[in-house]
Amino acid sequence: MTYARITGTGSYLPEKVMTNHDLEKIVETSDQWIRERTGIEQRHIAGDNETTVDLAEKASRLAIEAAGIDAAEIDLIILATSTPDKIFPSSACILQARLDIHGCPAFDIQAVCTGFVYALAVADKFIKTGSAKKALVVGAEIFSRILNWEDRATCVLFGDGAGAVILEASEETGILSTHIHADGKYENLLWVPHGIGDGFDEVKQGRGVVEMRGNEVFKMAVNTLGRIVDETLAANRMAKSDIDWLVPHQANIRIITATARKLKMSMDQVVVTVNKHGNTSAASVPLALDVAVRDGRIKANELVMLEAFGGGFTWGSVLLRY
Ligand code: UT7
Repeated sequence: MTYARITGTGSYLPEKVMTNHDLEKIVETSDQWIRERTGIEQRHIAGDNETTVDLAEKASRLAIEAAGIDAAEIDLIILATSTPDKIFPSSACILQARLDIHGCPAFDIQAVCTGFVYALAVADKFIKTGSAKKALVVGAEIFSRILNWEDRATCVLFGDGAGAVILEASEETGILSTHIHADGKYENLLWVPHGIGDGFDEVKQGRGVVEMRGNEVFKMAVNTLGRIVDETLAANRMAKSDIDWLVPHQANIRIITATARKLKMSMDQVVVTVNKHGNTSAASVPLALDVAVRDGRIKANELVMLEAFGGGFTWGSVLLRY
């Protein structure tokens, strides 16, 4: 049987760091409120001339190097983002050109914070069916460009960044199962309400920004993530105690600890980056994965669960042997 196996990871964060104290100067908030309610201490913010593909390219090059392959060997590129450089071409195509790769399929996936989990699920199927052998899968975002910097309820939550993996066809176990879901009826609990559908005028007038009913999203996230971990374990006939690592979407430390509790996992087995990165949407899971692989926590053959929840609503999980 052919599995899709992660053979390299990479990530990139923009140089500029914005602390909670920096935000205290912009909106009526406090370091204490942000830490207590979200666990966030700081986030990275892209420079004026930096774009999503710039971040994606840096993360991708590191993943390619870690996998020890040549970029030309890549035969599939999937980039998850809700903040693409352009309306078109896709950010995946722009990235493909930057990496001097020609001819392989390249496309974006838009599932907001669940984007990377969706992208991995799709790449896994390409590899399992023999349609690709070496896939570059990226989550990259510049949410700082779609925030209302006068809205304290949202602007303190997000950050910019990118994470990438190389997935290779292998006879050794890799991704064991993927589970992706959506329910569009929750559209307006977490959304950017204006876009091309409005003829773009609203966006030009500064209304193309994130709006969220945080408390309602919070409750849905906790319940839904609780269900998806059960679904994932049941599909693999595994027990909670089999999991070595949880790499969750990094939106709020309280959501992460609730999921860890549900899995009866110690926080020592949970990769937490929300304190340093904030919520980087589709980049958050691959960023956290790369951090824990590079600092030696996640080791070969360990069982890792990735999970995410985001706008749409979308949600999903991936169970893999690293
Ligand atoms: O990544 C996609 C999924 N996204 C999420 O999962 C995010 C889910 N939601 C959350 O993480 C939390 O709901 C938030 C962190 C967004 C908010 O935390 P909360 O505990 O749900 O707070 P709240 O929205 O119920 O607001 C509590 C209070 C309100 O004041 P009153 O009405 O009680 O007087 C807010 O106005 O906190 C106030 N508040 C703030 N105060 C200081 C809201 N934002 C801030 C702020 N600083 N930045």
